[in-house]
Amino acid sequence: MTLSADTAFPSTVRPEEAAARKADYPMADVILNRWSPRAYSDRPVTDEELFTVLEAARWAPSSSNEQPWRFDRQKARETLRTPDGIELHAVIALGHPGTPDLLPEELREREKPNTRRPLQASLLPVPLG
Ligand SMILES: Cc1cc2nc3c(=O)[nH]c(=O)nc-3n(C[C@H](O)[C@H](O)[C@H](O)COP(=O)(O)O)c2cc1C
Repeated sequence: MTLSADTAFPSTVRPEEAAARKADYPMADVILNRWSPRAYSDRPVTDEELFTVLEAARWAPSSSNEQPWRFDRQKARETLRTPDGIELHAVIALGHPGTPDLLPEELREREKPNTRRPLQASLLPVPLG
């Protein structure tokens, strides 16, 4: 079975997230309301779901379109065993949403909706002309 985009990416926007995040300029909702979850359920991720996520990664831009990435699908909870000749650049946890109440206090705190400093506060004061 192939997932449709709507099935594969159901809305995971938390109402509190949408309330906390206001863009200074027009923004696509998919960017504005994405967030970093730390709580995962025990529900297994199917290969179809995994490949649907990797499909998005496949379309990422790269220098001269070299696509220098390789995806290592390890399901282990222990130390990753990276094959020789492969340099590990990113580790991504993939899962279904779980209960934040089960997280340690520190992570529960980080799981709360956050925002960003205003755009103006990130602009360097470069004079024009
Ligand atoms: C390179 C990188 C490393 C991160 N490492 C951690 C981490 O070790 N632990 C954690 O709880 N969150 C981690 N995060 C998530 C950030 O805390 C999170 O992106 C940031 O607080 C903004 O929140 P948001 O992603 O929910 O918008 C990391 C994010 C990035 C981009």
